[in-house]
Amino acid sequence: MSLVLPPLSSLDDPSSALDDLNPLPRLLMGPGPINADPRVLRAMSAQLLGQFDPQFRLMMRETMALYRQVFETRNDWTFIVDGTARAGIETALVSAVEPGDRVLVCSFGRFGQLFSEIARRAGAEVKVIEVEWGTVFTPERIETEVKAFSPRLVAICQGDTSTTMCQPLEEIGKICHRHGALLQVDATASIAGTPLKADAWEIDCITAGLQKCLAGPSGAAPVTLSDAFARRIYRRRHIEEGVRPNGYVPGEGKMIGTNYFDLAMVIDYWSDSALNHHTEATTMLYGARECARIFVKEGHAAVFKRHADASRALVAGLSAMGLKLFGDLKHKMPNVTGVYIPEGVNGDRARMGMLNDFNIEIGTSFGPLHGKIWRIGTMGYNARKDCVLTTLAALDTVLAAEGHKFQRGAGIDAARQSYLA
Ligand SMILES: Cc1ncc(COP(=O)(O)O)c(C=O)c1O
Repeated sequence: MSLVLPPLSSLDDPSSALDDLNPLPRLLMGPGPINADPRVLRAMSAQLLGQFDPQFRLMMRETMALYRQVFETRNDWTFIVDGTARAGIETALVSAVEPGDRVLVCSFGRFGQLFSEIARRAGAEVKVIEVEWGTVFTPERIETEVKAFSPRLVAICQGDTSTTMCQPLEEIGKICHRHGALLQVDATASIAGTPLKADAWEIDCITAGLQKCLAGPSGAAPVTLSDAFARRIYRRRHIEEGVRPNGYVPGEGKMIGTNYFDLAMVIDYWSDSALNHHTEATTMLYGARECARIFVKEGHAAVFKRHADASRALVAGLSAMGLKLFGDLKHKMPNVTGVYIPEGVNGDRARMGMLNDFNIEIGTSFGPLHGKIWRIGTMGYNARKDCVLTTLAALDTVLAAEGHKFQRGAGIDAARQSYLA
């Protein structure tokens, strides 16, 4: 059988590539990315520095200090991995998990599936447990499975954007530790939108991204590692030829099977020994630092309230338009809302109407939910009253054009009212 590469359309007239880069100003109200805070974009336009410039090394330490506050941790090893959020997930998993280690993946959506995919590629013996999309795990179920499987590592999302559900984590770390497992959490979609307490909840590793509630672009992955998690990785330390320090002795653990995502070397890079591993993505570091600075300055409680207010208003508005919300609302993420596409409405055409006529993007969905629900984000810079009201106003017009029967204007009024309450 001949191998077929995927289709690729080339430009008939490549001269547009010489035009100014001038995208239409979209309001991004999907599950992420969302519009970046203008302060983050400004920070990212600062001039570059050399990665070993003392000014830059200071910025790296400041960034670590800021993210310790974001993650509510005293973990030394709190830093940025260059790459999108899945780079953070992958680097932590492939560096902590040795081939043959048992990994228990608790999956309640597409990003649980991503964990099992990465763990399998790392050579782990993977067990996946699932709940129906739109629900979350009970701690009892997780404890039973941990006891039965004895994993080295348990992996779970906090917010799985694909289902809009938020998994309570308060007890999961303690359960893992009672049974000798480490806990890794993907908080890409929930960090800075809902409480996340690395130390109090005993989470060994949290990885994240900037492009949701942290109001930045994708491309940098904040991570925090407990001492136990960092040690698990560092026992596999094998520094590449050419940059080995005098007296270097490799770790006793198996060499990590990737160079770029070798978190032992990345730890050395961020440490005072400043191993020359990669060239830090300077501009992303500026952006990541600014995202954390803005969050810390506004304050955890104020940011979480802003997200909760926007979510409540959106839910009130959608309900007043006669729309049905998806999933177990008790566990809905406060920054993404799933809503059923009403009977008779063409979901993709309605989304395109929002985009083409109003410059507003809302999200479609994956897997079993594809074509059934839209996902609307109210997060980060866009967790604001004006964004919620503008989105509902556009949806009002588009749904009416699609023939959906509802009281025009009721959604916008209900959302405004929710902000007054
Ligand atoms: C919960 C969750 N995890 C991981 C990712 C992957 O992030 P990235 O696309 O930045 O690699 C996403 C992206 O939407 C996400 O929502």
